[in-house]
Amino acid sequence: MTTNNIVWHDSVVTKQDRKEQNNHHSPVLWFTGLSGSGKSTITVALEKALFDRGIRSYRLDGDNIRHGLNNNLGFSPEDRKENIRRIGEVSKLLNDAGLITLTAFISPYKEDRDNVRQILNDGEFIEIYVKCSLDGCEARDPKGLYQKARAGEIKGFTGVDAPYEEPETPELVIDTEQQSLEESVQTILNYLESKQFISPVK
Ligand code: ADX
Repeated sequence: MTTNNIVWHDSVVTKQDRKEQNNHHSPVLWFTGLSGSGKSTITVALEKALFDRGIRSYRLDGDNIRHGLNNNLGFSPEDRKENIRRIGEVSKLLNDAGLITLTAFISPYKEDRDNVRQILNDGEFIEIYVKCSLDGCEARDPKGLYQKARAGEIKGFTGVDAPYEEPETPELVIDTEQQSLEESVQTILNYLESKQFISPVK
């Protein structure tokens, strides 16, 4: 740890102040699942639904973040770990800033997801397993990447020749082979209301 000679400097505006001003909490909604399972699609629709209700949120998406902040990382287990570690830290900042964070990363390793859970306050990490069979994801193949992986043009592709560790006790499971996009978004909104992270629509 390189924390020598570094001193934390507190703000005067607190997380609680931001929460009261926003009138909602700022949980991290951590979507995990295979490529093509529907993480990005759901987070885009959910972000819009939250926005329309006046709720402040922000979406962090694997493909987008890998264009910038994490453009020096590949797909080895070590790089995926670092990818998730950094996103965990960014999520913690957004959590403190009072925004609901929606993350869409495969995040295939249980240990890496659990590490993010550990750095957040109890109850503020909401793991959402976006469930879709490998066959289902491969049939969708929205980016043509499964086809490339099967042809040997991409090595270490999740689900093909790299592992995906299913969440054991996620807060929510969204089965995108059973639920429509609208139902999926509604399930998550209902969950956020039931936990009083957001207020019901009047
Ligand atoms: S993670 O494993 O580190 O969480 P992340 O969500 O950031 O992955 O990026 C996954 C996206 O990168 C996939 O949706 C896909 O578009 C692309 N990708 C490119 N190579 C791979 C690979 N080897 N395995 C998985 N996804 C890959």
